[in-house]
Amino acid sequence: MKRFGVSLEEELLCKLDELVEHHSFPNRSQAIRFLIRRYITEDNWANNQPVSGCLVLVYDHHRTDVQKQLTAIQHDYHDLVLCSQHVHLDHDNCIETITLKGRADRIRTLSDRLLAVKGIIHGELVMSVIR
Ligand code: NI
Repeated sequence: MKRFGVSLEEELLCKLDELVEHHSFPNRSQAIRFLIRRYITEDNWANNQPVSGCLVLVYDHHRTDVQKQLTAIQHDYHDLVLCSQHVHLDHDNCIETITLKGRADRIRTLSDRLLAVKGIIHGELVMSVIR
């Protein structure tokens, strides 16, 4: 671990402390680490680097063909899919988490296709820089 000094305007420092408080970071250093990694992650995704991510999908399994379509699409991108987990939330609803690794643009395309399936109630791609 290396230490370095940072000069910040009073107002920006107050904003940093608000972030620390609001997101329950243990200290300013951890908040800054988090922000740097988030920035690198966004950069890697924007520059189509190899990345990893996790797509979360919530859907009503009674809707015609939802599951069939999700499976068919994932088979088209089988090289990106590390694993998927299906949990039955209640009588109607399922939550599926799909862990992905590969080039950012292909992961985005796959995620967009899965999210666009009719019957998906909610979904979100969580992006990571670790690959
Ligand atoms: Ni289910």
